[in-house]
Amino acid sequence: MKISVLGSGYVGTTAAACLAELGHEVTAIDIDEEVVASLNAGEAPIHEPGLDELLTAHAGGNLTATIDYGVVPETDVTFMALATPSKPDGSIETSIIESAATSLGEAIAGKPSTHQVVVKSTVVPGTTENVIAPRIADAAGEDFEISMNPEFLREGSAVMDFQEPDKIVLGAETDRARETMRAVYEPLVARVATNVVETGIREAEMIKYANNAVLAAKISTMNEIGNICKEYGVDAYEVADAVGLDSRIGRAFLDSGVGWGGSCFPKDVTALITAAREVGYDPSLLDAVVEVNEKQPRRMLELLDEHTDVGDERVAVLGLAFKPGTDDVRESRAIPIIEGLRERGASVVGYDPVATGNMRKRFPDIEYAGSAGEALDGAAAAMVVTEWDEFAALDDEFDRMADPVVVDGRRIVSRRDGLVYEGLTW
Ligand code: UGA
Repeated sequence: MKISVLGSGYVGTTAAACLAELGHEVTAIDIDEEVVASLNAGEAPIHEPGLDELLTAHAGGNLTATIDYGVVPETDVTFMALATPSKPDGSIETSIIESAATSLGEAIAGKPSTHQVVVKSTVVPGTTENVIAPRIADAAGEDFEISMNPEFLREGSAVMDFQEPDKIVLGAETDRARETMRAVYEPLVARVATNVVETGIREAEMIKYANNAVLAAKISTMNEIGNICKEYGVDAYEVADAVGLDSRIGRAFLDSGVGWGGSCFPKDVTALITAAREVGYDPSLLDAVVEVNEKQPRRMLELLDEHTDVGDERVAVLGLAFKPGTDDVRESRAIPIIEGLRERGASVVGYDPVATGNMRKRFPDIEYAGSAGEALDGAAAAMVVTEWDEFAALDDEFDRMADPVVVDGRRIVSRRDGLVYEGLTW
């Protein structure tokens, strides 16, 4: 099939590359000329394992990139993978996807056959039909069909998540739209065993939010239990291991600690809360899911206060990315930790194997170290915020500290003699 993909962020680029790998003829369209040039050169504009290999294999062949919407009518299907960031009130900002919808409508106006549009962006129920479709129709009339296909791609394993999905959700209201999406995914379904869920457009939109809300709630629940465990001297990780053996629960996303961050959970849980309030429902559980998450960095700072006064002291923050395997610092739990340390008058030194550059944009005036050992040098305390593997191997590096107080927010540091070790929830 001939497919165009609007938007070349991590979802759009991953989808374009993986759809090309499935044998489709794919055109990626983005307004950013640098991103387009990078895709055409076979280089990933973002860091995702496996993406460079796919782009090298397909760029210039069945994957091309352009800034020109003029190619859209030559394709059978257009995937919309545009960002839907948060507005200050927590609702989603749809202006980017709306303007892409207008450009798409203008491009397909006059196309002799019915164009198929698939929304991949995360949008609250009703947005595909009430916001995106009318923008396309304004320019193109009614001769197009629209469907919804949410993504479940984790940063750092987006390619694998696309190629070996737990499920593919196809939300459509017409047989033809449904058949189009089946045809898009047919080569993938033939290759790997997966669940294909066929549902309505609004259900597909909600499944994405529900998925992220349940995962965030799982973590917050375990964080709450972990906080109670800590008071009772109970090891929350042993508890999680046993609870996770219940097949109705599962072990994934039960790692307690300093909480969830990133560009998805905070944005999506907040958007669902805001959307619920807009229709008059009070989402008290989801409010609590967020509240517990905000509590965790504060608890980490309070644990530190119990051991030492860090005013005028050097404090190392180990890990700046919102999770290991990425340089993304959006909503990283390191941000409230750094803010809290600075409020206490500490001199903060951050270290991360890959995310220093991005955190420097957020906090240009703290110190950044080139290694964990360098960050620990002379520090009165260390706060461990991201579970990079290398933090499990720290040993003699702790001898470089002025005062060996370590507050571990991710259960990663190996304890050793002489280390004053505090786990956040165990
Ligand atoms: C998340 C979802 O996992 C994807 O399925 C979804 O497609 C994506 O959001 C999205 O909406 O686009 P991502 O934000 O990349 O993916 O990261 P996750 O691996 O889900 O981790 C999110 C946060 O939860 C991280 O800060 C991580 O440290 C934290 N976490 C995760 C925990 O605190 N404990 C755990 O047990 C697991």
